[in-house]
Amino acid sequence: MNVSVLASAIIGSEIIKIGNEVNELKSKGAEIANLTIGDFNPAIFPIPEELKTEIIAAYNDHQTNYPPADGILHLREVVSDLLKDRFNLSYTPKEILISAGSRPLIYSTFLALIDPGDKVIFPAPSWNNNHYCHLTSAVGITIESLEENNFMPVASQIKPHLKGATLLALCSPLNPTGTMFSEEQLAEICDLVLEENKSRPAGEKPLYIMYDQIYSLLTFGKEHINPVSLRPALKDYVIFIDGISKCVAATGVRVGWGFGPDAVMSKMKAILGHMGAWAPRAEQVAVAKYFKNSKQVDEFLSRFKNQIQLSLNEIYNGFQNLKKEGFAVDAIEPMGAIYLTLKIDYIGKTTPDGDLLKDSADVNFYLIKAAGAALVPFSAFGNDDNMAWFRASVGACTLADIKAMMPRIKMALSQLK
Ligand SMILES: Cc1ncc(COP(=O)(O)O)c(C=O)c1O
Repeated sequence: MNVSVLASAIIGSEIIKIGNEVNELKSKGAEIANLTIGDFNPAIFPIPEELKTEIIAAYNDHQTNYPPADGILHLREVVSDLLKDRFNLSYTPKEILISAGSRPLIYSTFLALIDPGDKVIFPAPSWNNNHYCHLTSAVGITIESLEENNFMPVASQIKPHLKGATLLALCSPLNPTGTMFSEEQLAEICDLVLEENKSRPAGEKPLYIMYDQIYSLLTFGKEHINPVSLRPALKDYVIFIDGISKCVAATGVRVGWGFGPDAVMSKMKAILGHMGAWAPRAEQVAVAKYFKNSKQVDEFLSRFKNQIQLSLNEIYNGFQNLKKEGFAVDAIEPMGAIYLTLKIDYIGKTTPDGDLLKDSADVNFYLIKAAGAALVPFSAFGNDDNMAWFRASVGACTLADIKAMMPRIKMALSQLK
């Protein structure tokens, strides 16, 4: 072995593997609605024009040297105001940390809290927690969330695992499901964490929550809730993950923010500093100016969310119609993010070519080839490969692509025996 044990056991992105397959077929001329990646096609969902203008202006203003390790003060002040205005959360600029998108914040949360062998609890399906456990030698405890709870984890499932755990990783609106915690669901979980921390002897690490709310501004009518607003006593134990990647379609601009107790954030700042995972200074200057104008942000969000919701609803309604016609499919009503949860219960069926669809990956590749519809099975998010649920992500497709795809799905499913 010529690399570390950690590196040799690392697993790349399952979603990118499917995406590559789709791109290869497309290059051969196939018509495929690519609902795989959690990203945006900038031709369909561009970043706000004003943000682009500010980024260019910042470069013209020579904002090109190292930024401060925790992010430029003005951006942290703007984020502090945004948290107050939109979520009624009080965090000072000192408790806020800026980084190159939200991933370095997730990784540094793990690095700041986890010792090798520590327990991290997270739901399946969820996004990438297994990989961050691997990177930090944590013991991942997976909770299989249930359809009847909109695939959100609930307190009764979490409770048996809390003793000795260091981190509970939660996300709402959730990637991959596009569903959200109800107030009651999250409050019950918060109470468990408070109770657990009260019971721990002095000197034992407390149980922390990592609350990933990267989709918090992309909700369709339901209110986004968070642990600290529900239970202020949790403030010392919650590290929030947020940023601009999804809410303004700016995945490649790379500005994220985390916030939480100073004692943890200051360690995360030191870790991020050694990684050099800062957001570029010019982007920070531009994002601060853009988000300072909340009217401008609201106008963008209302157009953007409307466009996303139209696409999600088109697929949702299409699947509900198929279900009514007797197809073995289902869909959960979209609540937030850019995702939709679909059931396509055809494992065990045979294709017109005589191939058995033995797991969800087979169903997925059949739909790619026979229907020009590329989804991601929940097995890429920690579930079993015999689970018949899939994620559809709408950021890379036009509404017209989606409309054209639905009859192809119907035709492909009707050919299965
Ligand atoms: C739940 C969740 N958190 C974080 C991220 C990462 O975002 P960023 O691009 O800001 O690193 C993603 C990206 O898909 C995500 O779905």
